[in-house]
Amino acid sequence: MTVDTTVTVRVPAKVNLQLAVGPRREDGFHALVNVFHAVSLFDEVTVKAASPRQPRALAALTATGQSESHLARVPLDETNLAARAAALLAEETGSGFPVDIHLDKHIPVAGGMAGGSADAAAALVACDRLWGCGLSRERLLDLAARLGSDVAFGLVGDTAVGTGRGELLDPMASPARYRWVFALSTRGLSTADVFGEYDRLRPDAPDPRLDPALEKALADGDAEALGRSLSNDLQPAALSLLPELQRTLDAGRSAGAIGALVSGSGPTCAFLIGGGGEDAAVVAEREAGVVAALRATGLCEQVVAADGDVPGTTVL
Ligand code: C5P
Repeated sequence: MTVDTTVTVRVPAKVNLQLAVGPRREDGFHALVNVFHAVSLFDEVTVKAASPRQPRALAALTATGQSESHLARVPLDETNLAARAAALLAEETGSGFPVDIHLDKHIPVAGGMAGGSADAAAALVACDRLWGCGLSRERLLDLAARLGSDVAFGLVGDTAVGTGRGELLDPMASPARYRWVFALSTRGLSTADVFGEYDRLRPDAPDPRLDPALEKALADGDAEALGRSLSNDLQPAALSLLPELQRTLDAGRSAGAIGALVSGSGPTCAFLIGGGGEDAAVVAEREAGVVAALRATGLCEQVVAADGDVPGTTVL
C-alpha cells in the first residue's frame, strides 16, 4: 500500500442565490434559508507531513495568492479555520501527526464567498486522506457543520439549500450553467458585524422561506428569471457598513448584468451575466461590457469571471 505524504484538495467559492435571514436564535446564530451555488473560483489546500525532527504544533500554515490585501487578512495561526479543521479531525479520530498546511488563495478573503470555510472543508478532506482516517462522507459533513455554518457546503458543492444556521444541506435541482462576474473589494467585512447590523436594521425579521420563483428559475435553467429572483437579506446591512457597494451594484446593472447582489455578508458583489440556453457570443459580449464598467468605477480591487455551478472538494 502506498502512503500519501502530500495531499492537495481543490475547493470552490460560493455565491448565495437567496439568503433569507430570520430572527436571532438563542444560540446567537440566525435561522437561515441559504441557497448556495458553487462557482469556479478555487482555493487549493495542500497538506504535507511535517518533518519529524522536532515536536511542534499539529498544523503550521502558509498562504499564497494574487492579492496582497486579501492575503494580509488570512490568519496563519491556530485560529485559521483550516487549522481548526485539522485539530477537530485529530481530536475526533485520535489519529493525526503534525502537518504543514499551505493555502493557495483565489477566493476573496473576508469577502462573503466562504473562502475560510472552503479552506476548512478542503483541510478536513486532505487530513482525512493523509492521516488515513477514512471517515465516511456523513461524518465529514458532521465535523464540517461543527466548524462553521458554510463549511459543509464546501464538501458538497453544486447548488444546495442550507437551513438551520445554514449547515443542514439539501441539493437543489439546477441543470444549467451560468456565467458570473465578481467585483472584489479592497476591504473585508466581518460576517458577525454584518449580522449585527442586520439585527439593528431588522429587529422584526420574519421566519425565512425558500423563494419558489428562484426554485423554478433554477429547475427551468432560465437565466433571466434567475437574475430577477436573486435576493440577499444581508445586503442592506452590508450597504449600510460600506455604502460605496451601491455604486458597484449600479454600475454592473447599468452595463447589462441580468442580476446583481452582494454575495453573502459581502463585500464582494456578484453579477449574473447569463447562461442556460443563451447564445455564448451574446453572453461573452455582455460579460465584457460589465467587466469594463466595473473596472471603470475605480472601486474594485479585482474583477473576475467564473462559472457555476461546480462540484465541491476534489482531491487532485
Ligand atoms: O458559522 P460561522 O462561523 O461562519 O459564522 C460566523 C458568524 O456569523 C457567527 O459568529 C455569527 O455572528 C454570524 N452568523 C449568524 N447566523 C448564522 C450564521 C452566521 O449570526 N446562521
